Amino acid sequence: MNATDRIRFELDGRDIDAAPGESILQAARRAGTDIPHLCYTDGLRADGNCRACVVEIDGERVLAPSCCRAPQPGMKVKAASERARASQRMVLELLRADVPAAAEKSDSELAHWCEALGVVEPRFTPRTNPTPDRSHPGIAVDFAACIQCTRCLRACREEQVNDVIGLARRGADTAIVFDFGDPMGDSSCVGCGECVQACPTGALLPATLLDVAVAPASAAYRPTRQVDSLCPYCG
Ligand code: FES
Repeated sequence: MNATDRIRFELDGRDIDAAPGESILQAARRAGTDIPHLCYTDGLRADGNCRACVVEIDGERVLAPSCCRAPQPGMKVKAASERARASQRMVLELLRADVPAAAEKSDSELAHWCEALGVVEPRFTPRTNPTPDRSHPGIAVDFAACIQCTRCLRACREEQVNDVIGLARRGADTAIVFDFGDPMGDSSCVGCGECVQACPTGALLPATLLDVAVAPASAAYRPTRQVDSLCPYCG
């Protein structure tokens, strides 16, 4: 990065540089400060839908999502102020409340950020537990753990140019769907696994890792048709 290209701004009292095109979140991470984030992941277009990454910007009344906000020279940003942290915690608590305890994955990014910010027991009522989709031979879908961050949609569309996953319905009923609401195993999914890699909550996971207690083996459905796979490990 040329010195002349740098965008110098302040993050939590420290001067850092951003490269042209970088967001506040990206520049902060490069400088060693990780801001909570869930719907953002490296390599995918920032969507700004979860609001876990909100920061205070001097002179602005409303908190800004740092994943899709470009820093300006001289901007003063607070990611760890009392107000920013309170908002980040509230977002994490609400998202965690969406995930019933039985569907929580302790090694997920959601669990990591909840632990990092001290979000323990959500005070809000969880959703009812939707039935998991076990129709795909390689990938299970635990809808109860989904926070609709759309990372799987973007991974499917932007990484694989497949566009199998979409969002259906509205409000609290919003859910990811495959093609036209087909079981994943009947959809045009090629089993590449990009969505599993992208998921920050474990809603999409290798089929063998879904707790069998949430879907009895007798309910398992195995499609007989075969699809071409782009998976580098399957050939
Ligand atoms: Fe920024 Fe979700 S990570 S809004």
